[in-house]
Amino acid sequence: MEIKIDPRIIKSISKFNLPTKLGFGKTLAPVMISCSYKEEKWGTLNLVPYEPLTLSPTAKVFHYGQEIFEGMKAYRVNGQGPYLFRPEENQKRFNLSAERMAMPTLPEELFIKSVKLLTEYCAPFIPDKSGDSLYLRPFMFATEEHLGIAPSNEFKFMVVASPSTAYFSSDALKVLIERKYVRAVDGGTGQAKTGGNYAGGLNSAIRAKNLGFSQTLWLDSKKREFVEEMSGMNIFVVMKGKLVTPSLENTILDGVTRRCLIRLAEDMGVCFEERALGIKELIEAIQTGECSEAFACGTAVIVTPIEGFGEDDGTFYKIRSKGESIGSRLREKLLALQEGREKDVYGWRHKVSLSYGEKASEGGVEI
Ligand SMILES: Cc1ncc(COP(=O)(O)O)c(C=O)c1O
Repeated sequence: MEIKIDPRIIKSISKFNLPTKLGFGKTLAPVMISCSYKEEKWGTLNLVPYEPLTLSPTAKVFHYGQEIFEGMKAYRVNGQGPYLFRPEENQKRFNLSAERMAMPTLPEELFIKSVKLLTEYCAPFIPDKSGDSLYLRPFMFATEEHLGIAPSNEFKFMVVASPSTAYFSSDALKVLIERKYVRAVDGGTGQAKTGGNYAGGLNSAIRAKNLGFSQTLWLDSKKREFVEEMSGMNIFVVMKGKLVTPSLENTILDGVTRRCLIRLAEDMGVCFEERALGIKELIEAIQTGECSEAFACGTAVIVTPIEGFGEDDGTFYKIRSKGESIGSRLREKLLALQEGREKDVYGWRHKVSLSYGEKASEGGVEI
């Protein structure tokens, strides 16, 4: 694998100041990764300044949506790290998305090297408060200039980074039960992280916001009977003291956070079930008080409590919590592992080296 460090990045990095107010995904790091795919092979991995792209108006991504992405974080809390968290899981999911969208897969080494290199060079800009991080966004899109409906032969893989605070500023989410539209269908693209899945959910996001909700809860496409997930996160509920999450089928995104929480819950001795979860069953359990907790989880949101679920006619099912929250125990455990505050018995944390200074001063050499 050939790697090229653009000498202009030294100036970009030295000019960059981390703003005092960050938010999520608003501030972009001054460097990024770019790598092109042509004639059935991946080319040089480039670390370049963050700058606009030049693309043909007929690049296939603009017309047929051949695009995939990932979301992951690097942590550097209290001078620890920087740590990446289970990056190989994102790499595997990236390739699953690529296969589903008729795109080339990326060698594991290329993906991992890209996120490590970018983290290494962005290390001085990783915020150090617990819950803050460097959000990393690997993505790939079709660049071939051609209007025919056929898979592209040319692609670009890129990674950008954003020093970020937590995704939600509010405490608990009010969630709209979406009874009209669906996010994914059996045999569709729901399991892939591809832009169209998210674009298709945006009208519901607007409707939810106008009705005073912060998120959409998606139901199954056939009968609107079963709970699936939210637009960018998986869901867990606690019913009769048992932690429950919908089983994946092929319509729900296989979240890395979801998988971590299942493992942590098992190790914490929490009674757990992965199964079909009826929306009727959930509403009844909230009304009788049997459902004592619900929370959303994902890389961006970590673990975020849900206050309740509502309909577009104004009905709201508020969850009556009882005592200690399983979600907050899981959130604390997960964050402690991600941020290096707890011994990692799972082998999930990857330390990233900090030698960016020496490499930057070499400017442009192949390493
Ligand atoms: C639709 C959807 N579900 C769930 C998740 C949570 O996945 P992860 O925990 O890997 O971030 C995400 C975020 O990537 C998502 O976009």
